[in-house]
Amino acid sequence: MSKLLLEQILEEGDIPKHIAIIMDGNGRWAKSRNLSRISGHREGINSVRDIVRICGELKISYLTLYTFSSENWNRPKIEVGAIMRLLLGTINKEIDSLNKNNVKLSTIGNLNDLPKESFKGIANGVKKTKNNTGLNLILALSYGSRQELIRAFKRIVNKIEKGEMKLEDISQENIASELYTSETPDPDLLIRTGGEHRISNFLLWQSAYTELYMTDKFWPDFREDQLLDSILDYQNRQRRFGQTSEQVSE
Ligand code: IPE
Ligand code: IPE
Ligand code: MG
Repeated sequence: MSKLLLEQILEEGDIPKHIAIIMDGNGRWAKSRNLSRISGHREGINSVRDIVRICGELKISYLTLYTFSSENWNRPKIEVGAIMRLLLGTINKEIDSLNKNNVKLSTIGNLNDLPKESFKGIANGVKKTKNNTGLNLILALSYGSRQELIRAFKRIVNKIEKGEMKLEDISQENIASELYTSETPDPDLLIRTGGEHRISNFLLWQSAYTELYMTDKFWPDFREDQLLDSILDYQNRQRRFGQTSEQVSE
């Protein structure tokens, strides 16, 4: 790990508890090298491995990776198939090392949409690491924030219809508790690689007060130094949550 940056970060003190990343730009990374889009996704896995390792070393509690969106199903069938195979292959290959490093794997999203083999491989990884106490690695798979909110509203209406809950009881807390992320604190830092300045249906509710960090780097080029840069940037922000700067610095 780049020692100077690391020392600086640890000195500043405030390490984000939860980092969420929109891992974008694999296709363009590959295109700029005359490679296939799939090669870009394959190279992106090396970034995932690096970032997971560093987050573990920095003792970050939660890392949520936007791995495949609900809308990504609309890509060409051949690309979707290749991504699903890469996903399964990577989980199978990496799970022992994740386990050894005390990483606890979990997912958010509609996993029923996944091909059976990929679903089974992931469920197996989740089960294998369920008692680990280190980094919580959360893969957003077939995830869309609007779909997640619809699901939550349906669950709440169902409770009201069954008389388990009253209309007046609807609150921020019990909407949050019906989301996939009910066990996870909101992200402190949301990183998007690949140069776009948009959220693309990721954690809309959860990132109401998250600090955003957008970088032009394509995901396969986003490694240790880039992550450390983003954390340093985060450490220089003042989170006000609607209050004045005087109140917050008191
Ligand atoms: C992100 O990279 C990976 C997924 C969405 C699965 P892209 O494949 O979107 O890369 P670009 O945006 O086309 O460069
Ligand atoms: C967002 O990237 C989804 C993931 C990184 C998994 P996209 O490439 O799908 O986003 P858009 O289409 O550019 O908004
Ligand atoms: Mg993209």
